[in-house]
Amino acid sequence: MCEAHADDLKSGRFCAKPGGTAGYYVLSQRIYAGTGLFVSVPKQPRVPKGDRTMAIPHKIYLSENEIPKFWYNVRADMKVKPDPFLNPATHKPLEAEALHPIFCEELVAQELDNDNRLIPIPDEVRNYFMTYRPSPLMRAFNLEKQLGTKAKIYYKFEGNNTSGSHKLNSAIAQAYYAKKQGLRGVTTETGAGQWGTALSMACAYFGLDCKVYMVKVSYEQKPFRREVMRVYGASVTPSPSDTTEIGRKILAEHPGTTGSLGCAISEAIEVAASTEGYRYVLGSVLNMVLLHQSIIGLETKAALDKYDIVPDIIIGCAGGGSNLGGLIAPFMGEKLRGERDYRIIAVEPASCPSLTRGKFVYDFCDTGKVTPLARMYTLGSGFIPAPNHAGGLRYHGMSPILSRLYHDGYMEATSVPQTRVFEAAEQFARTEGILPAPESAHAICAAIDEAIKCRETGEEKTIVFGLTGTGYFDMTAYEKFHDNLMSDYVPTDADLQASFDLLPKIE
Ligand SMILES: Cc1ncc(COP(=O)(O)O)c(C=O)c1O
Repeated sequence: MCEAHADDLKSGRFCAKPGGTAGYYVLSQRIYAGTGLFVSVPKQPRVPKGDRTMAIPHKIYLSENEIPKFWYNVRADMKVKPDPFLNPATHKPLEAEALHPIFCEELVAQELDNDNRLIPIPDEVRNYFMTYRPSPLMRAFNLEKQLGTKAKIYYKFEGNNTSGSHKLNSAIAQAYYAKKQGLRGVTTETGAGQWGTALSMACAYFGLDCKVYMVKVSYEQKPFRREVMRVYGASVTPSPSDTTEIGRKILAEHPGTTGSLGCAISEAIEVAASTEGYRYVLGSVLNMVLLHQSIIGLETKAALDKYDIVPDIIIGCAGGGSNLGGLIAPFMGEKLRGERDYRIIAVEPASCPSLTRGKFVYDFCDTGKVTPLARMYTLGSGFIPAPNHAGGLRYHGMSPILSRLYHDGYMEATSVPQTRVFEAAEQFARTEGILPAPESAHAICAAIDEAIKCRETGEEKTIVFGLTGTGYFDMTAYEKFHDNLMSDYVPTDADLQASFDLLPKIE
């Protein structure tokens, strides 16, 4: 790497100027060429002004050699870092060694790394990416037309792999590090099933055993998800279960519970900690998962740069925060460095509103209180959301990185009720053709709202949202929506307070 180049990276000056200027092009070529961070992006031939929109294709694809070679660690550009994990017994920050019995060592290093801006993507991981990446950046021409808006809507489609979602981006990285450490297998939880499917695929590829604890409501609503995981060799147990001590305790305290991600996490950790040669892996929330998912944002930015497109608004659904954190990473980097401003919007279900109604405090990441404490927006680890169809968004907490960014005013959050989400999903499916996962439809809903605002004001804003996955396994939810059997349950303040009252007390 040349010296000037290295300096640019250290200072974070990559892509410092608005796209389309000569200076930018020279700078970007230099940066792209060496790192693969913002990959080498040949500009498209110039088209006369006025014809510009005609030049934008429905799908912007990068080539395989444009897949980034580095993940981008947004923490390096955060002046105020996410708060450290605390040991729940001592309330002291956790050192790496304390996390090694649960997590793979290299993943712990990534988790605690607040400083290195660029983390190389191992060749083995990048080779696997080539089977399904780069994912397309799509222009929603048909939806725009139907909405009668001047807004330009783009979406990064991550559903184009068998797991049906972005989750494979981190699954393959985590399975790789587990294999490299010589482990026999991994345990995990899954909510909607996408993460479990993704991890099953990744473990099959690297020859690792995979034990999945699946939130009971999803296990029952999505029997075919479970079967896909078994195709890839995983064992799948509905959670809470009587196979773990913590599962038996939760069942005794909440008989008939349909489970939550928090319960399933507790069970998966217990099994990893008590089984020789196993570690636990998690599909969201953690810093390392957002790091792996930065590939979404890096590719998005590279694709937009090809056409000199600068988004005004970036929208993503937020469960534990991994897709949103990944999509916004390079844009947030620019915002944090004061180079450019974007409106960034997290969309969550009104039934599980951790950012919009939660508290920014230390809490357990699981229901059974076996994890370290993380400072995040939380509804309380005892909060069990109503069994609705937000699936993978039914998590009581939120990524500590996103929590910090939200707390410090770098992004906004909104919550949407379930039936509006399904209306948006259907409108999108009928215009754009892709059947979205209900989680992704939260982002669609907010993107439509913003596009409608543009129709009213006449503004031509550019909106980018993350279409995180497909909804083929969510037909029970779509059926309930069609049969008017779907409710818009929203927890009361008293419901939330009951859960807040049980938050750990940290000095
Ligand atoms: C399709 C899809 N989108 C979004 C999410 C939310 O997760 P996260 O907030 O980690 O991106 C999930 C989680 O299961 C999912 O399956």
